[in-house]
Amino acid sequence: KIIPLLLAGGSGTRLWPVSRDAMPKQFLPLVGERSTYQQALARVSSPELFAPPIVMTADDFRFFAKAQADELGIDATVVLEPMRRDSGPAIAAGAALARKRDPGAVVLAIAADHVILDQDVFEATCAAGLEAAEKGSIVTFGILPSSPKTSYGYIRRGASVGIDGVSVVDAFVEKPDAPTAARYVADGYLWNSGNFLFGAETLLTELARFEPEMARAVIAAVDKASLDLGFVRLDAEAFGAAPQKSIDYAVMERTDRTAVIEGRFRWSDIGSWDAVFDIAPRDDAGNVTSGPVETYEAQDCIIHAEDRLTVALGVKDLVIVTTPDAVLVLPRSRAEDVKAAVAMLKKQG
Ligand code: GDD
Ligand code: MG
Repeated sequence: KIIPLLLAGGSGTRLWPVSRDAMPKQFLPLVGERSTYQQALARVSSPELFAPPIVMTADDFRFFAKAQADELGIDATVVLEPMRRDSGPAIAAGAALARKRDPGAVVLAIAADHVILDQDVFEATCAAGLEAAEKGSIVTFGILPSSPKTSYGYIRRGASVGIDGVSVVDAFVEKPDAPTAARYVADGYLWNSGNFLFGAETLLTELARFEPEMARAVIAAVDKASLDLGFVRLDAEAFGAAPQKSIDYAVMERTDRTAVIEGRFRWSDIGSWDAVFDIAPRDDAGNVTSGPVETYEAQDCIIHAEDRLTVALGVKDLVIVTTPDAVLVLPRSRAEDVKAAVAMLKKQG
């Protein structure tokens, strides 16, 4: 069975004022009634396919991670990273832990802050990738791009690996510049969705080739981990020696073991309010609303109210977000710029 590895350590500043440093987007219900983290847990809970999950997160989030898993009756191993080192060390530490459980473990690393619809298609994709992962591939799930985004990894598909639907990756390019991304979209590249299926041993072997320091650090951090009220606390000194690098730069761009399978499910990394708008269900006027919201002749807006009655009248293509201590209003087309606005607010203190 596949061991799910949830990455639940990120922040998500573009979804301010709902997503905050102290309460990041994965633990919030942004699309649907459950948090994105809970949706991710549920996504990998089919007992035929998956073993109980491992969750990688930061110390500050440990109670959210545990309580939200308990609420679903899911017995998650919650692993605490002593400091933020990006997805490379987080995935590698999870792989090292999975390998301790079972030397032949196959791991599915997934982001806890993404929305995936079409559960049956998702499971079929995992099942199809499993054989390739067992044979030593690091399988990525590719998504047919809809625009030349520069915040994603791009994958050029090569020949079939001999398993239905699974191809060799000819090139993996993390976050290309805009003209390059446009060329890639025209040339039929896929986006990297950020889901990776691999043998724990395969990933750690490749990591040791390209990032020996990271590999040593995470293996030591897992070997010296302590159990603290049911949480697995990685050794801080050992983990601190790992370089801060994403798995994409650390391994995916460099290894020749990557394979890709196209994920034909609806996928969103809900990175911005506009991305939430794209994947959430809309009303007859094209609005996405949640919380106590009333609309009159409003069109194609996303309106998220935490607990104050929020009324929109005669407006179009806006993002409107209200929380007890902040209100955000902007055109949907500027949704990416929230990140810069939040950075400014932080500087002003
Ligand atoms: N536990 C833990 N610890 N999780 C982390 C950490 C960390 O230090 N850093 C990041 N993550 C989690 C994030 O919460 C997210 O779920 C996942 O790892 C990916 O990290 P991001 O920081 O969101 O990466 P990205 O969005 O810039 O790029 C990645 O995802 C894209 C798709 O959304 C790459 O894999 C791209 O190639 C990909 O296209
Ligand atoms: Mg992301």
